[in-house]
Amino acid sequence: MHIPQTGLSKQEILTTLSAFKTRDMDWKGGKVFCYVYNPGEDPAEVMKEAYLSFLTENGLDPTVFPTMLQLETDVVRMVINLLHGDSNAVGHLTSGGTESIMLAVKAARDKARAERPYIKEPEMVLPKTAHAAFHKAAHYLSVKPVIVDIDPQTFQVHAEDMEKAITENTILLVASAPSYSQGVIDPIAEIGKVAQKHNLLFHVDGCVGGVHLSFMRKLGYEIPDFDFSIPGVTSISTDMHKYGYAAKGCSVVMYRSRDIRKYQIFACTDTTAYTLINPTVLSSKGGGPYASAWAVLNFLGEEGYMRIIQTVQDAVKKLTDGINAIPELRVLGKPAMCMFSFASDSINVYQLADEMAKRGWYLQGQFSTPLTPRNLHISVNFGNAHSVDALLKDLRECVEIVKAKEPIDADGIRQMVGMALQSPDPEAAFNQLAASAGLSGTELPSEMAFINEVMDALPDAVCNSFLINYFNDLYV
Ligand SMILES: Cc1ncc(COP(=O)(O)O)c(C=O)c1O
Repeated sequence: MHIPQTGLSKQEILTTLSAFKTRDMDWKGGKVFCYVYNPGEDPAEVMKEAYLSFLTENGLDPTVFPTMLQLETDVVRMVINLLHGDSNAVGHLTSGGTESIMLAVKAARDKARAERPYIKEPEMVLPKTAHAAFHKAAHYLSVKPVIVDIDPQTFQVHAEDMEKAITENTILLVASAPSYSQGVIDPIAEIGKVAQKHNLLFHVDGCVGGVHLSFMRKLGYEIPDFDFSIPGVTSISTDMHKYGYAAKGCSVVMYRSRDIRKYQIFACTDTTAYTLINPTVLSSKGGGPYASAWAVLNFLGEEGYMRIIQTVQDAVKKLTDGINAIPELRVLGKPAMCMFSFASDSINVYQLADEMAKRGWYLQGQFSTPLTPRNLHISVNFGNAHSVDALLKDLRECVEIVKAKEPIDADGIRQMVGMALQSPDPEAAFNQLAASAGLSGTELPSEMAFINEVMDALPDAVCNSFLINYFNDLYV
């Protein structure tokens, strides 16, 4: 494809773009149970207009665009107050949970470099359920991730196990409120005590939970303390673009004090160009996500969030009860809010996801680990809460369809994977295996069960390398 010689009309462009979208899954109808967080028509409209009104402004320089500083300060302060930070707490808006997490890890690494220069190989201690963003931060920032197993019944980490993993190289402890995979909150108060005892920084990943859990508590749900009210917690990430219901591209990273936050900020006057001061990873940044977050917080207010969250939690109760009532399925652990996963001891859940996909539903497959069975993940939000009856009906029917189907030969696949691992060129052998499952080139496969089965059987390192190669081919 080349840039057209002559530009297209607005009409042609918009028609083409909306035609492209017909290949995507139907999030507007409430059938996608991850990735999208929809607060309903009115707030979405306000947010959209606010976003467009700041489409062109640049957050790079607050002296030129003081409004960007104002929007950021307002949003960060509102979220800090929600999370019981005091007037010493500070923060920044970032492009998303991953950036917030990367910055918290960078701040911890650089604080350790300044104060504990004898540490040559910094380590962060995190539960197996911590989000992959921490692994990515570790990879980018050369910090070693020290993974702690979780309790296979509750899917929470034990604070004692976190403590046992601390060494003289530890710079940061991490826990989730809640974890994405099973939606459970780690014992933040106990881990906070460990952090204080060892004088360590402690980051709470509240990317999904920061806003939702805080309002659940205001609604009277029993939610354990997870925020700055716990003295050992030194930083928190909370995404406005998830359960804050803002447009994509907005998260908040918060620190208990400026003494920690200063290690996040980067300045450079070493070039021939303008003075660069970047508190976050991005340098130029659009005002849209900031304005959308400011707008949605002010439009919904506490009452609006509580109305949304009550609706969502009612739907979650119905959905989890309904899933547990299907004999072949069981919800894993005790999810704290509106994200959870379910497994099966008798049918292949990847085949179930494929059957559901044929009816337009998107349920997200998660691989097994030595402590967790393979499962399907569901994140309920206001935009899909109304579909739970229809979802349950289709789940019940699809379970019956999968039961009547030819099961996937998991043992055979494990054998093939084993053979490929032994072959002289394992990469080529996996590529062949993947191609036979329809995963190659630039076409996305319509059924995922077989390929999920293969990937679930692969050791993580091999699977990661395979996925990197696949994406390397998929994109231009
Ligand atoms: C608990 C948790 N932390 C971090 C992230 C990363 O957020 P993002 O996708 O906005 O980078 C996610 C994403 O789902 C998450 O669930």
